[in-house]
Amino acid sequence: MSERTFRVWRGGPDGELTEYRVEVNEGEVVLDVLHRLQATQAPDMAVRWNCKAGKCGSCSVEINGRPRLSCMTRMSVFEDDEVVTVTPMRTFPVVRDLVCDVSFNYAKAREIPSFTPAPGTEPGDFRMRQADVERSQEFRKCIECFLCNDVCHVIRDHEENKEHFSGPRFLMRVAELEMHPEDTADRRRTAQEEFGLGYCNITKCCTEVCPEGIHITDNALIPLKERVVDRKYDPLVWLGSKIGRR
Ligand code: SF4
Ligand code: F3S
Ligand code: FES
Repeated sequence: MSERTFRVWRGGPDGELTEYRVEVNEGEVVLDVLHRLQATQAPDMAVRWNCKAGKCGSCSVEINGRPRLSCMTRMSVFEDDEVVTVTPMRTFPVVRDLVCDVSFNYAKAREIPSFTPAPGTEPGDFRMRQADVERSQEFRKCIECFLCNDVCHVIRDHEENKEHFSGPRFLMRVAELEMHPEDTADRRRTAQEEFGLGYCNITKCCTEVCPEGIHITDNALIPLKERVVDRKYDPLVWLGSKIGRR
């Protein structure tokens, strides 16, 4: 057992960091220590969590400025005398303490056109190659922690971009549907014009923070960009669109 210094954001958007000295035991994670603070010194501290196993995506916060799951961040990763600062995700509005309002993400999710099989397709008709199954399975590991959206500079420091940019999590969903061999909808124009794919300049910060290790940039965003470019610069597609407008 040892004592450590924690600084935790308390209050709403105009809140401040409050310092605590708190007991830490071997093998604990940051969420354990936050729970101890609630139990001993700060009973009204708002903390969101659910599974404590890295699978529900609820406990996303920033720890020493880095987006992380508090239930998966071991106290042993910090130096013995290191102050641990815990703040809510910066990209989303703070509700109170460590809880922020992530409803923006769900609004974006609802805008994505759903899976569109060919008319008349019945359940059981699909035949997919294993490679196609595996490709979307990687994206399906997402736990919707929104750490990727939190870290992305396009919206992290630019409030004005938020309404135009779905963020990596839901651009990945668009990519998943676009790559699905049984899906007939063409989402390339939507990806570029409505979900803001062009704002992404492939910095890969989203991939770095993803607790599921999903290769968001390489396997979803870059392939989606390639498809959008193919369409935009394909002379036959361009001619077709001009004739179609007459
Ligand atoms: Fe979290 Fe990764 Fe899903 Fe983004 S893609 S919401 S970082 S699990
Ligand atoms: Fe943002 Fe990821 Fe693109 S961090 S800029 S969405 S590669
Ligand atoms: Fe579920 Fe951390 S509590 S991911």
